[in-house]
Amino acid sequence: MANSTSGESVAERIVRVLETFDADRSAQTPSDIARRAGLPTSTAHRLVGELVATGLLDRDDSGRVLLGMHLWEVAQRGSRALRLRQAALPFMERVQTRVREHTQLAVLEQGEALFLERLSHPHAVSNITRIAGRLPLHASSSGLVLLAFADAGLRERVLASPLAAVTPDTVTDPRELEALLARIRREGLVVARGFVEPVSTGIAVPIRQRRDVIAALSVVLPREAPTAGAVDELRRAAAAVGRVLAGPED
Ligand code: PHB
Repeated sequence: MANSTSGESVAERIVRVLETFDADRSAQTPSDIARRAGLPTSTAHRLVGELVATGLLDRDDSGRVLLGMHLWEVAQRGSRALRLRQAALPFMERVQTRVREHTQLAVLEQGEALFLERLSHPHAVSNITRIAGRLPLHASSSGLVLLAFADAGLRERVLASPLAAVTPDTVTDPRELEALLARIRREGLVVARGFVEPVSTGIAVPIRQRRDVIAALSVVLPREAPTAGAVDELRRAAAAVGRVLAGPED
């Protein structure tokens, strides 16, 4: 794709425009988009106009710009995330019926845990996870499982980087984290008490497609809630999703 004078491709600029949207900023003026994307106003206006014409962005009655339904459509169609979510959802629903707090599905995406689905009971404990939101690998239960089974290069990079404390219980010491990851690989499980929020405990297990860990299935419970029942439910569900993903035996 053609590059601008700044050396940035049109595709990179489009991604910067799209990334200015989030759950708290779902409608923006073109000038807001320009500022947040760090683009000259004229460039942002032109890109926004082109993206509205293709349906990837929409405009509301007041002229504010929204992510387009067509963007959702093409992103979902045939995506790996959708296939995984569809395979997992019936089993997540069973976990959720039994546990009645939060049940979530995450994958590794560019060094973070990206959440594809979350089911929640209306009176469940606080949970900062959002669908299509991200959490740090070293802090969240899902992230820890994904990191434990990630390739050695990523593990080394995370262990060598500054590990921010999300709460006083987040593991921030690289040696302690390395030992925790080894334990997660041995046990196929993490119980992360208070790592993300002091009031809750995250529990996560790996989902395997044949031999590869491709996702994490987790629950978030009140901090002092018993964990054994949830662990059993998660293990059973993850194994069932793995069987669906493996497809018919040949
Ligand atoms: C977790 O995955 O450990 C987790 C996520 C969100 C929370 C609490 C715990 O709010």
